[in-house]
Amino acid sequence: MSNLEEHIRIAKQKFHQALQDTAPEAWETLKNTFLARKGIIAELFAMLAECTPEEKRHYGKTLNELKNEITEQIERLKSKVEFQLRPKRLDPTLPGKPYPYPRVHPLTQTLNRIVDTFARMGFVVEEGPELETAYYNFDALNTPIWHPAREKSDTLYILNSTSEYELLRTETSPVQIHALEKRGVPIRIISPGRVYRNDKPDATHSPVFHQVEGLCVDEKISMADLKGTLLGFYRAMLGSRIEIRFRPHFFPFTEPSAEVDVTCPFCYGNGCRICKQSGYIEMGGSGMVHPNVLKGVGVDMEKYSGFAFGLGVERLAMLLHGVDDIRLFYENDLRFLEQFA
Ligand code: DAH
Repeated sequence: MSNLEEHIRIAKQKFHQALQDTAPEAWETLKNTFLARKGIIAELFAMLAECTPEEKRHYGKTLNELKNEITEQIERLKSKVEFQLRPKRLDPTLPGKPYPYPRVHPLTQTLNRIVDTFARMGFVVEEGPELETAYYNFDALNTPIWHPAREKSDTLYILNSTSEYELLRTETSPVQIHALEKRGVPIRIISPGRVYRNDKPDATHSPVFHQVEGLCVDEKISMADLKGTLLGFYRAMLGSRIEIRFRPHFFPFTEPSAEVDVTCPFCYGNGCRICKQSGYIEMGGSGMVHPNVLKGVGVDMEKYSGFAFGLGVERLAMLLHGVDDIRLFYENDLRFLEQFA
Protein backbone atom coordinates (compact mmCIF):
# COMPACT_ATOMS: atom_id res chain seq x y z
CA MET A 1 0.00 0.00 0.00
CA SER A 2 2.62 2.52 -1.00
CA ASN A 3 0.04 5.12 -2.04
CA LEU A 4 -1.16 5.32 1.61
CA GLU A 5 1.74 7.64 2.17
CA GLU A 6 0.39 9.91 -0.55
CA HIS A 7 -3.13 9.76 0.97
CA ILE A 8 -1.84 10.80 4.34
CA ARG A 9 0.06 13.70 2.83
CA ILE A 10 -3.05 14.89 0.98
CA ALA A 11 -5.25 14.53 4.08
CA LYS A 12 -2.78 16.64 6.02
CA GLN A 13 -2.76 19.31 3.35
CA LYS A 14 -6.53 19.27 3.19
CA PHE A 15 -6.80 19.77 6.89
CA HIS A 16 -4.48 22.77 6.92
CA GLN A 17 -6.35 24.34 4.03
CA ALA A 18 -9.69 23.71 5.78
CA LEU A 19 -8.33 25.22 8.97
CA GLN A 20 -7.62 28.43 7.08
CA ASP A 21 -10.92 28.49 5.22
CA THR A 22 -13.22 27.66 8.10
CA ALA A 23 -14.61 30.30 10.45
CA PRO A 24 -13.72 29.44 14.07
CA GLU A 25 -17.41 29.14 14.98
CA ALA A 26 -17.65 26.26 12.44
CA TRP A 27 -15.13 24.11 14.27
CA GLU A 28 -17.68 21.31 14.48
CA THR A 29 -17.73 20.96 10.68
CA LEU A 30 -14.01 20.38 10.74
CA LYS A 31 -14.40 17.81 13.43
CA ASN A 32 -17.07 15.96 11.45
CA THR A 33 -15.03 15.99 8.25
CA PHE A 34 -11.85 14.72 9.76
CA LEU A 35 -12.51 12.97 13.02
CA ALA A 36 -15.99 11.47 12.75
CA ARG A 37 -16.50 7.70 12.65
CA LYS A 38 -16.65 7.83 8.83
CA GLY A 39 -14.36 10.82 8.52
CA ILE A 40 -11.14 11.17 6.56
CA ILE A 41 -8.87 9.91 9.31
CA ALA A 42 -11.05 6.88 9.96
CA GLU A 43 -10.92 6.07 6.26
CA LEU A 44 -7.17 6.17 6.27
CA PHE A 45 -7.00 3.89 9.30
CA ALA A 46 -9.28 1.47 7.45
CA MET A 47 -6.72 1.32 4.62
CA LEU A 48 -4.17 -0.07 7.08
CA ALA A 49 -6.00 -3.38 6.85
CA GLU A 50 -4.41 -4.02 3.46
CA CYS A 51 -0.89 -3.31 4.66
CA THR A 52 2.00 -5.60 5.58
CA PRO A 53 2.76 -5.73 9.33
CA GLU A 54 5.79 -3.51 8.78
CA GLU A 55 3.80 -0.91 6.84
CA LYS A 56 1.09 -1.08 9.52
CA ARG A 57 3.58 -0.14 12.17
CA HIS A 58 5.02 2.66 10.11
CA TYR A 59 1.82 4.23 8.77
CA GLY A 60 -0.08 3.58 12.00
CA LYS A 61 2.36 5.81 13.76
CA THR A 62 2.18 8.61 11.16
CA LEU A 63 -1.61 8.44 11.15
CA ASN A 64 -1.83 8.65 14.92
CA GLU A 65 0.39 11.70 14.89
CA LEU A 66 -1.80 13.36 12.28
CA LYS A 67 -4.93 12.50 14.24
CA ASN A 68 -3.45 14.02 17.40
CA GLU A 69 -2.43 17.16 15.59
CA ILE A 70 -5.90 17.62 14.09
CA THR A 71 -7.60 16.97 17.42
CA GLU A 72 -5.41 19.51 19.12
CA GLN A 73 -6.00 22.23 16.53
CA ILE A 74 -9.75 21.72 16.65
CA GLU A 75 -9.76 21.84 20.47
CA ARG A 76 -7.86 25.11 20.27
CA LEU A 77 -10.45 26.60 17.89
CA LYS A 78 -13.23 25.42 20.11
CA SER A 79 -11.89 27.02 23.27
CA LYS A 80 -11.13 30.24 21.42
CA VAL A 81 -14.75 30.45 20.31
CA GLU A 82 -16.07 29.59 23.77
CA PHE A 83 -13.89 32.28 25.30
CA GLN A 84 -15.17 34.87 22.85
CA LEU A 85 -18.76 33.89 23.44
CA ARG A 86 -18.55 33.85 27.24
CA PRO A 87 -21.26 35.93 28.90
CA LYS A 88 -20.11 39.51 29.11
CA ARG A 89 -23.10 41.25 30.50
CA LEU A 90 -22.59 43.40 33.60
CA ASP A 91 -23.78 41.71 36.76
CA PRO A 92 -24.82 44.52 39.07
CA THR A 93 -25.23 42.12 41.99
CA LEU A 94 -21.48 41.37 42.16
CA PRO A 95 -19.62 43.15 44.98
CA GLY A 96 -17.62 46.20 43.85
CA LYS A 97 -13.84 46.30 43.70
CA PRO A 98 -12.46 47.43 47.07
CA TYR A 99 -10.89 50.86 46.73
CA PRO A 100 -8.30 51.69 49.42
CA TYR A 101 -8.93 55.20 50.69
CA PRO A 102 -5.92 57.35 51.49
CA ARG A 103 -4.83 57.82 55.06
CA VAL A 104 -2.53 60.34 56.70
CA HIS A 105 0.86 58.94 57.75
CA PRO A 106 1.02 58.46 61.56
CA LEU A 107 3.92 60.92 61.86
CA THR A 108 2.00 63.56 59.93
CA GLN A 109 -1.05 62.89 62.10
CA THR A 110 1.05 63.46 65.20
CA LEU A 111 2.67 66.56 63.71
CA ASN A 112 -0.74 67.98 62.83
CA ARG A 113 -1.95 67.48 66.40
CA ILE A 114 1.19 69.11 67.80
CA VAL A 115 0.80 72.13 65.54
CA ASP A 116 -2.93 72.49 66.36
CA THR A 117 -2.24 72.32 70.07
CA PHE A 118 0.44 75.03 69.98
CA ALA A 119 -1.68 77.12 67.62
CA ARG A 120 -4.35 77.26 70.32
CA MET A 121 -1.70 78.75 72.61
CA GLY A 122 -0.91 81.48 70.11
CA PHE A 123 2.14 79.99 68.38
CA VAL A 124 2.42 80.45 64.63
CA VAL A 125 4.29 78.09 62.32
CA GLU A 126 7.60 79.20 60.85
CA GLU A 127 9.54 76.99 58.48
CA GLY A 128 13.24 76.92 57.82
CA PRO A 129 15.63 75.27 55.36
CA GLU A 130 16.95 71.73 55.83
CA LEU A 131 20.22 72.62 54.12
CA GLU A 132 21.96 74.98 56.52
CA THR A 133 25.22 76.75 57.11
CA ALA A 134 27.36 76.22 60.19
CA TYR A 135 26.48 79.80 61.11
CA TYR A 136 22.76 79.08 61.61
CA ASN A 137 23.09 75.51 62.88
CA PHE A 138 25.93 76.24 65.35
CA ASP A 139 27.57 79.69 65.57
CA ALA A 140 24.44 81.81 65.96
CA LEU A 141 23.22 79.25 68.51
CA ASN A 142 26.26 79.89 70.70
CA THR A 143 27.78 76.50 69.94
CA PRO A 144 31.55 76.73 70.45
CA ILE A 145 33.86 75.76 67.62
CA TRP A 146 35.13 72.73 69.56
CA HIS A 147 31.68 71.33 70.34
CA PRO A 148 31.52 67.61 69.55
CA ALA A 149 28.16 67.98 67.75
CA ARG A 150 30.07 69.69 64.92
CA GLU A 151 32.16 66.59 64.19
CA LYS A 152 31.70 64.74 60.91
CA SER A 153 30.83 61.71 62.99
CA ASP A 154 27.66 63.52 64.15
CA THR A 155 26.77 66.03 61.44
CA LEU A 156 26.26 65.39 57.72
CA TYR A 157 28.24 67.98 55.74
CA ILE A 158 27.78 68.71 52.06
CA LEU A 159 30.31 70.40 49.80
CA ASN A 160 28.32 72.88 47.67
CA SER A 161 29.00 74.07 44.11
CA THR A 162 31.20 76.91 45.31
CA SER A 163 33.35 74.51 47.36
CA GLU A 164 31.95 75.64 50.70
CA TYR A 165 30.69 73.28 53.32
CA GLU A 166 27.02 73.32 54.09
CA LEU A 167 25.25 70.85 56.33
CA LEU A 168 21.96 69.08 56.83
CA ARG A 169 20.54 70.69 59.94
CA THR A 170 20.96 68.54 63.01
CA GLU A 171 18.10 70.24 64.85
CA THR A 172 15.28 72.67 64.19
CA SER A 173 16.91 75.29 66.46
CA PRO A 174 18.46 77.31 63.56
CA VAL A 175 14.90 78.33 62.65
CA GLN A 176 14.97 80.40 65.87
CA ILE A 177 17.65 82.57 64.24
CA HIS A 178 15.92 82.83 60.84
CA ALA A 179 12.65 83.74 62.56
CA LEU A 180 14.23 86.37 64.81
CA GLU A 181 16.00 87.93 61.80
CA LYS A 182 12.80 87.94 59.81
CA ARG A 183 10.15 88.84 62.38
CA GLY A 184 12.03 90.46 65.25
CA VAL A 185 10.48 90.53 68.72
CA PRO A 186 8.04 89.91 70.30
CA ILE A 187 7.76 86.49 68.71
CA ARG A 188 5.94 83.23 69.39
CA ILE A 189 6.63 80.53 66.84
CA ILE A 190 6.89 76.79 66.45
CA SER A 191 8.80 75.13 63.67
CA PRO A 192 8.16 71.53 62.79
CA GLY A 193 10.55 69.80 60.43
CA ARG A 194 13.01 67.16 59.42
CA VAL A 195 16.48 66.94 60.96
CA TYR A 196 19.50 64.80 60.10
CA ARG A 197 22.20 63.07 62.07
CA ASN A 198 24.98 60.69 61.20
CA ASP A 199 23.37 57.86 63.16
CA LYS A 200 22.99 54.18 62.36
CA PRO A 201 19.32 53.20 62.30
CA ASP A 202 18.12 51.01 65.16
CA ALA A 203 14.91 50.72 67.19
CA THR A 204 15.37 54.21 68.66
CA HIS A 205 17.59 56.01 66.11
CA SER A 206 17.05 57.15 62.57
CA PRO A 207 19.41 59.33 60.51
CA VAL A 208 16.36 61.41 59.59
CA PHE A 209 13.74 62.31 62.14
CA HIS A 210 11.45 65.17 63.11
CA GLN A 211 11.50 67.85 65.74
CA VAL A 212 9.25 70.71 66.70
CA GLU A 213 11.09 73.81 67.78
CA GLY A 214 9.40 76.41 69.93
CA LEU A 215 10.47 80.00 70.60
CA CYS A 216 8.80 82.71 72.60
CA VAL A 217 10.46 86.08 73.21
CA ASP A 218 8.57 88.92 74.83
CA GLU A 219 8.64 91.23 77.84
CA LYS A 220 8.81 89.48 81.20
CA ILE A 221 9.01 85.94 79.88
CA SER A 222 10.17 83.57 82.61
CA MET A 223 10.85 79.90 83.15
CA ALA A 224 7.34 79.64 84.63
CA ASP A 225 5.94 80.50 81.18
CA LEU A 226 8.05 77.75 79.65
CA LYS A 227 6.85 75.23 82.18
CA GLY A 228 3.20 76.26 81.88
CA THR A 229 3.35 76.08 78.09
CA LEU A 230 4.87 72.61 78.03
CA LEU A 231 2.55 71.30 80.75
CA GLY A 232 -0.49 72.54 78.83
CA PHE A 233 0.86 71.04 75.65
CA TYR A 234 1.61 67.58 77.04
CA ARG A 235 -1.71 67.38 78.88
CA ALA A 236 -3.52 68.23 75.64
CA MET A 237 -1.59 65.50 73.86
CA LEU A 238 -1.42 62.74 76.48
CA GLY A 239 -4.22 63.47 78.95
CA SER A 240 -4.91 65.61 81.99
CA ARG A 241 -3.17 63.27 84.44
CA ILE A 242 0.21 64.02 82.88
CA GLU A 243 2.81 65.93 84.89
CA ILE A 244 6.12 67.21 83.60
CA ARG A 245 9.55 67.30 85.21
CA PHE A 246 12.53 69.51 84.37
CA ARG A 247 15.98 67.99 84.72
CA PRO A 248 18.94 70.40 84.74
CA HIS A 249 20.95 69.99 81.54
CA PHE A 250 23.25 71.89 79.20
CA PHE A 251 22.49 73.31 75.77
CA PRO A 252 24.71 76.00 74.25
CA PHE A 253 21.75 78.14 73.23
CA THR A 254 19.84 78.21 76.53
CA GLU A 255 20.69 79.21 80.09
CA PRO A 256 19.44 77.72 82.29
CA SER A 257 18.67 74.58 80.30
CA ALA A 258 16.47 71.63 81.16
CA GLU A 259 15.51 68.33 79.71
CA VAL A 260 11.77 67.73 79.81
CA ASP A 261 10.28 64.48 81.07
CA VAL A 262 6.57 63.60 81.16
CA THR A 263 4.90 61.10 83.47
CA CYS A 264 4.74 57.79 81.71
CA PRO A 265 1.24 57.66 80.18
CA PHE A 266 1.17 53.86 80.57
CA CYS A 267 1.74 53.62 84.33
CA TYR A 268 1.25 57.27 85.42
CA GLY A 269 4.51 57.28 87.32
CA ASN A 270 4.34 53.88 88.98
CA GLY A 271 7.05 52.35 86.82
CA CYS A 272 6.56 49.92 83.95
CA ARG A 273 8.38 48.28 81.05
CA ILE A 274 7.88 51.26 78.73
CA CYS A 275 9.48 53.81 81.05
CA LYS A 276 12.03 51.28 82.31
CA GLN A 277 10.58 51.55 85.85
CA SER A 278 11.46 55.26 86.10
CA GLY A 279 7.86 56.55 85.85
CA TYR A 280 9.00 59.25 83.41
CA ILE A 281 9.77 59.51 79.71
CA GLU A 282 12.21 62.01 78.21
CA MET A 283 10.60 64.18 75.55
CA GLY A 284 13.01 66.95 74.60
CA GLY A 285 15.15 69.91 75.59
CA SER A 286 14.29 73.44 76.68
CA GLY A 287 15.51 76.50 78.47
CA MET A 288 15.74 80.27 78.62
CA VAL A 289 17.23 81.68 75.42
CA HIS A 290 20.94 82.39 76.00
CA PRO A 291 21.94 86.11 76.05
CA ASN A 292 24.52 85.44 73.30
CA VAL A 293 21.78 84.20 70.98
CA LEU A 294 19.60 87.27 71.60
CA LYS A 295 22.59 89.61 71.33
CA GLY A 296 23.57 88.04 68.00
CA VAL A 297 20.29 89.04 66.39
CA GLY A 298 20.16 92.44 68.08
CA VAL A 299 17.36 91.92 70.60
CA ASP A 300 17.14 94.53 73.38
CA MET A 301 17.94 92.38 76.39
CA GLU A 302 16.96 95.05 78.93
CA LYS A 303 13.41 94.70 77.71
CA TYR A 304 13.06 91.16 76.35
CA SER A 305 13.66 87.61 77.45
CA GLY A 306 12.52 84.30 76.05
CA PHE A 307 12.21 80.56 76.25
CA ALA A 308 12.80 77.85 73.68
CA PHE A 309 12.22 74.15 73.39
CA GLY A 310 12.75 71.29 70.98
CA LEU A 311 10.67 68.10 71.00
CA GLY A 312 11.01 64.83 69.17
CA VAL A 313 7.98 64.02 67.02
CA GLU A 314 8.72 60.29 66.66
CA ARG A 315 9.03 60.03 70.44
CA LEU A 316 5.54 61.35 70.88
CA ALA A 317 4.07 59.30 68.02
CA MET A 318 5.60 56.14 69.51
CA LEU A 319 4.11 56.92 72.93
CA LEU A 320 0.70 57.78 71.51
CA HIS A 321 0.45 54.58 69.49
CA GLY A 322 2.54 52.13 71.52
CA VAL A 323 5.09 51.73 68.70
CA ASP A 324 8.42 50.37 69.91
CA ASP A 325 10.59 50.68 66.79
CA ILE A 326 11.15 54.04 65.08
CA ARG A 327 12.02 52.34 61.78
CA LEU A 328 8.39 51.28 61.33
CA PHE A 329 7.55 54.89 60.51
CA TYR A 330 9.90 54.92 57.51
CA GLU A 331 9.54 51.45 56.04
CA ASN A 332 6.04 52.28 54.82
CA ASP A 333 4.78 48.73 55.18
CA LEU A 334 1.06 49.05 54.45
CA ARG A 335 0.23 46.49 57.13
CA PHE A 336 1.65 48.98 59.65
CA LEU A 337 0.34 52.20 58.08
CA GLU A 338 -3.20 50.90 57.59
CA GLN A 339 -3.64 50.64 61.35
CA PHE A 340 -3.70 54.43 61.64
CA ALA A 341 -7.16 55.26 60.38
N1 DAH B 1 18.17 71.33 69.66
C1 DAH B 1 18.16 70.43 70.80
C2 DAH B 1 18.47 69.01 70.31
O1 DAH B 1 18.28 68.73 69.17
C3 DAH B 1 16.85 70.46 71.50
C4 DAH B 1 16.60 71.76 72.17
C5 DAH B 1 17.04 71.94 73.45
C6 DAH B 1 15.96 72.79 71.53
C7 DAH B 1 16.84 73.13 74.13
C8 DAH B 1 15.75 74.00 72.18
C9 DAH B 1 16.18 74.16 73.48
O2 DAH B 1 15.14 75.03 71.62
O3 DAH B 1 15.94 75.33 74.13
O4 DAH B 1 18.87 68.20 71.09
